[in-house]
Amino acid sequence: MARPHIEPFCDRDVHFKNMRLPGFSRGMGYKMLSLDADSGACSMTVQLDGGYHQPPGFSWSEREMIIVEGELKVGDQTCRKGHYFFIPAGYCMPAISTQQGCLVMMMYNTGEPSHEPSGEHHPLAQVDLYHSIDSYMDIPWAMGNLVKPSVAAGCLIKLLNFNPISHAMTFLYCMTPCFKQDNISYHDCAEESYHLWGTSWMMQFGDIPTGGYFWRPAYINHGAFASEYGCIALGRTDSKLFNHFHYNPWTTPKENQERAGARLYQRDPLLYKWALSYDHNHPHGPEDFEKTMQLRGNEQGHDNEHKSDGKRHDHWHGHDHQEDGSPHHHHHADGSHHHHHHDD
Ligand SMILES: [Fe+2]
Repeated sequence: MARPHIEPFCDRDVHFKNMRLPGFSRGMGYKMLSLDADSGACSMTVQLDGGYHQPPGFSWSEREMIIVEGELKVGDQTCRKGHYFFIPAGYCMPAISTQQGCLVMMMYNTGEPSHEPSGEHHPLAQVDLYHSIDSYMDIPWAMGNLVKPSVAAGCLIKLLNFNPISHAMTFLYCMTPCFKQDNISYHDCAEESYHLWGTSWMMQFGDIPTGGYFWRPAYINHGAFASEYGCIALGRTDSKLFNHFHYNPWTTPKENQERAGARLYQRDPLLYKWALSYDHNHPHGPEDFEKTMQLRGNEQGHDNEHKSDGKRHDHWHGHDHQEDGSPHHHHHADGSHHHHHHDD
């Protein structure tokens, strides 16, 4: 997810635009919070006008949604504020409507917003991943020390979604009144937050009021933190959240990244050395045999097997080949091009 750093930003400072993409019903206004210009993935504040009605259908993108204000009818169910949905790509949602209008936060994770009218799931939709819950009423607050080293006491969370492979998380968090944390923090992951209610403060970026938002790439200093009257927010990370704490307000993202690398070297020296010296760690990383080994037969003609004999591999994912029939060209972070010869 290559979105730029957006911070500080408050959606109350901009106006709603009319959603005009094909498939979406009239009466949908949006404020773009962050956008990946490559994939179209984005987070938006969305106002659905009273009387809005969206027929059943699915999106080509995985998405998440939380009701911020008002009520939304999803099929037969009336959902209140705080209701959260995780909707896999291709998962067919029933008709949605709102009588009085409502405010929701919509996140399209893997592609641009889309709505394909349909009465059934796409055949390749991972329907088991769908879940929905009233996060305000039906989940208790848990201590924020799920992640260690931890935020200060008084920052509580409700976990809404967890990706067991990447450790990406979606969660509600709240700061209790008079919350304070005096250190500076950065992470190895991107971090996103939308303030559903209340104001928190950070040394670098000032107050985040109701409607305040940030998309913060990895290694950017943030903190100390405080909240006078408390706040509640939706938070997300795009991979494993680790709190690198320190007290030096002058460090750059590059210095923070180098320190994170040094800490990895101190903690997992063999893994660090291997990952550094192995000459095939292109952006998609080395192979995870649990993900690529054949578990079942070739179903419905869909080739879900990733073949590799260690020398030769076929890429089912998008991959830039310079010209047809040439050996692989891998783009390395330092900009150099290595030619690998595959004897096939
Ligand atoms: Fe953070």
